[in-house]
Amino acid sequence: MSGKVLFVDSCVGREESRTLRLAEEYLKKHHGDSEVERIRLEEASIGPLTLEMRDYRDLVLGTGDLYDPMFRYARQFAEADEIVIAAPYWDLGFPAILKCYIEQIMVTGVTFEYTQDGMPSGLCKAHSLTYITTSGGYIEDRNFGFDYIRALCGMFGIGDVRCFTAEGLDIDGADVEKILEESAAAF
Ligand SMILES: Cc1cc2nc3c(=O)[nH]c(=O)nc-3n(C[C@H](O)[C@H](O)[C@H](O)COP(=O)(O)O)c2cc1C
Repeated sequence: MSGKVLFVDSCVGREESRTLRLAEEYLKKHHGDSEVERIRLEEASIGPLTLEMRDYRDLVLGTGDLYDPMFRYARQFAEADEIVIAAPYWDLGFPAILKCYIEQIMVTGVTFEYTQDGMPSGLCKAHSLTYITTSGGYIEDRNFGFDYIRALCGMFGIGDVRCFTAEGLDIDGADVEKILEESAAAF
């Protein structure tokens, strides 16, 4: 694999984040030789989109200027060849900072557009997105965070969307190392 890889690190707080560790192993295995652009959402301090920001965005979009700094995350996302998202499984989904990031990248004219009949059409260059998560219990059919990201990829025009998980990490007696190793073996 080659090209520009964008790594969206949505892991929160923990220095010893298992999700981050799994994602780093994935990047090493598949993109060891590639240029990896990293965005650590916690450090980027991206807040929720406010009414003020929406108004400003509509104003700028009205001028056709897609190079306003406000669109930097959207442009970075649209220009990546491959995207990797790491997000711990929180409350059946993912941490709120990832939703804040999504609000920044959902920009018409940059990551997607609407056709004349009102259907979304993707503008992203990436052909694949890999979502990596770890959970305390078992996710089963409730991978809502990933399901949501996959639905968004339909709007972005990203066809190859996959998820790797390491589950049951917080269950009493869990052999965390073994679970992580087995998950990494599936990459
Ligand atoms: C705020 C919060 C919400 C969580 N929600 C769930 C959950 O709904 N289901 C689950 O199985 N584990 C849940 N967990 C456990 C985490 O998914 C698990 O510890 C995960 O490995 C954390 O990833 P990290 O090591 O990268 O921080 C939650 C943990 C936190 C801190």
